[in-house]
Amino acid sequence: MATLAVVGTQWGDEGKGKIVDILSEKADWIVRFQGGNNAGHTVVVDGTKYILHLLPSGILHDGKRCVLGNGMVIDLESLINEIEFIKRVGKEVDGRLFVSERAHLILPYHKELDAASERLKGDGSIGTTLKGIGPAYRDKAGRVGIRIADLRDENAFKEKLRWNLREKELTLKHVYNYDVSFSFDEIYSQTMRNYEKVKAFVCDTVTLLNRAVDRGDNVLFEGAQATLLDIDVGTYPFVTSSNSSALGISSGTGISPKKVEKIYGIMKAYTTRVGGGPFPTELKDNVGELLRARGHEYGSTTGRPRRCGWLDLFAVKFSCMVNDLDGIIVTKLDVLDAFDEIKVCVGYEIDGEIVESFPSTAQELSRVKPVYETLPGWKRETTHVKSFKELPEEAKNFLRFVEDYLGVSIPVVSTGPQRDETIVKDALW
Ligand code: GDP
Ligand code: IMO
Ligand code: MG
Repeated sequence: MATLAVVGTQWGDEGKGKIVDILSEKADWIVRFQGGNNAGHTVVVDGTKYILHLLPSGILHDGKRCVLGNGMVIDLESLINEIEFIKRVGKEVDGRLFVSERAHLILPYHKELDAASERLKGDGSIGTTLKGIGPAYRDKAGRVGIRIADLRDENAFKEKLRWNLREKELTLKHVYNYDVSFSFDEIYSQTMRNYEKVKAFVCDTVTLLNRAVDRGDNVLFEGAQATLLDIDVGTYPFVTSSNSSALGISSGTGISPKKVEKIYGIMKAYTTRVGGGPFPTELKDNVGELLRARGHEYGSTTGRPRRCGWLDLFAVKFSCMVNDLDGIIVTKLDVLDAFDEIKVCVGYEIDGEIVESFPSTAQELSRVKPVYETLPGWKRETTHVKSFKELPEEAKNFLRFVEDYLGVSIPVVSTGPQRDETIVKDALW
């Protein structure tokens, strides 16, 4: 048995795509277990940039098997576009992509509801990706969702779709004051056309994956979003609608928690956040601007500028606890190359009192004053450094500081977007 998971430890965009791509080389299976096309995972191969939203980042490795797990919400159109994109860049998809029949569908009304709900919230909006993620999970929890398996039975699908269209039209009209009507015929036939294009990939991934794990195949679980965006342990309500920490692996794949052997967290050397919600170490000054410019911090899915700030270790320590991390992979260390000094948040204060544990409400988190430790910068380029030993002394100190504070080791450091811009101290597989 060799199962390994990679999850974000902050608010997403930590560089999960790059790390999963590298780890995919030794994996037999790469598995997404939650979320949908709200994710934007960037992989750079030989200077060419690929942004993946639904397909696991392992898809760029020939022959590797990729799974969209039952915990996902899937927009078939987006899936078809991505499959076509991967085929266009010369990769085979047939025979190595498996889509869970239990995964829920994102349908056009989910996107309308996402937009309507955000509009009604006004200044308090979450700043969602508007992909319909929240409304699709709401239907799943409300037991009115439509799963891919439902498309096998045209009459059952028709009945569920009719009921949903009626419910959504009433909700949009009477709750959100949105005057919209959906064409049953159009949605029905478009969905069935889409299904025809993907049905060869649809199967019972729960059984498939359990057999793979029991056989001893190398299975890599790829988290999307991150721990602080997790619906249960994240900064609710400014979160996504799935368990995007390691807590979602089992429910999103049907693999018992007893069988997930190693869990690694990805941590960017500073912090970013897209969308609304409290962000204690956010910098709205030229330091934040410099982080954004050096890190190219613009959303991979929506193109929005990402909010930037210093590394929040107090928050990451919470992620280490929740995920019980076996190691932290630090990414984008090179972005800090230009700074004279680097601040790291090591504690939170509210009304002059030190906070003992990570706050559970957005109200408390928005009142936090970060307690910083200032470390010297290294002011040298790290991108082409090939070993931990060759890193500037101050960069090594920064990494040791992180390890000591978190009590978790750093086996891998990333110093650029390319595959070879990676320092591996200890192998993960
Ligand atoms: P993900 O959502 O966690 O997969 O991360 P994104 O792909 O949304 O954002 C990470 C961005 O940083 C991408 O543009 C990557 O190409 C880039 N990246 C990843 N690792 C590094 C690194 O070590 N240094 C730099 N400069 N860029 C990196
Ligand atoms: P990756 O996998 C960063 C954020 C949105 C919004 C909140 C809810 O690339 O790290 P949603 O559309 O999911 O209902 O939006 O979550 N968000 C992300 N932020 N990276 C992501 O994915 C994100 N996916 C969702 O900006 O604040
Ligand atoms: Mg991203």
